[in-house]
Amino acid sequence: MPTIAPSILSADFGRLADEARAAAAAGADWLHVDVMDGQFVPPITIGPAVVHALRRATTLPLDVHLMIQHPERHVSEFVRAGAAGITIHVEAETDVAATLAAIRAAGARPGLALNPPTPLDHVRPYLKTIDLLLVMSVNPGWGGQAFVEGSLEKLSAARRLRAEAGAGFAIEVDGGIKPHNAALAAAAGADVLVAGSAVFESRDYAEAIRALRGAAR
Ligand code: DX5
Ligand code: ZN
Repeated sequence: MPTIAPSILSADFGRLADEARAAAAAGADWLHVDVMDGQFVPPITIGPAVVHALRRATTLPLDVHLMIQHPERHVSEFVRAGAAGITIHVEAETDVAATLAAIRAAGARPGLALNPPTPLDHVRPYLKTIDLLLVMSVNPGWGGQAFVEGSLEKLSAARRLRAEAGAGFAIEVDGGIKPHNAALAAAAGADVLVAGSAVFESRDYAEAIRALRGAAR
């Protein structure tokens, strides 16, 4: 069964601690935290202070997704704030290997993300140094977008690449995940499903999470 990581980007930011607790009570495995800097992507979202507040609200592992141009400047602060895992983008203006190593040295699990137009080959040099590969299935920046065609093939290719490399990272998919494509994404290779609007814009979070897991009511 896939790990379910609701993205708090679609939660009510005025009641964030309650939303985190509600996701936990509804059966979420992780909480996905989307950090945007207005540079790597147009919007600005949240920073370490909010990660710290979430850390106090829930014991769920915080899966921090940095959509920021210079992650090397901020990783230690996010680890101190309580991130369990930190994912950076292979497209960011950073020394990717050094930043992944800095995340691990600071005590968190390093992850690497790639955008829909970025070929899988670009992550090849890092396969043995990451705990998570995040295959973006939308162009990052906003919740509620449609799943990009071709993402299922990319997930299958990522799984083949992991086997070829003899690597052990988890494969995560993020963007446009709904009950109708969750099982397809998991079958194609995703171990972790991120879902923002499918959970936080539903009336019943537990029912939404069950539907994403492919478990019948
Ligand atoms: C997109 C973010 C996603 C987003 C997913 O830039 O990285 O995590 O919140 O939202 P949905 O599930 O609504 O596509
Ligand atoms: Zn994300």
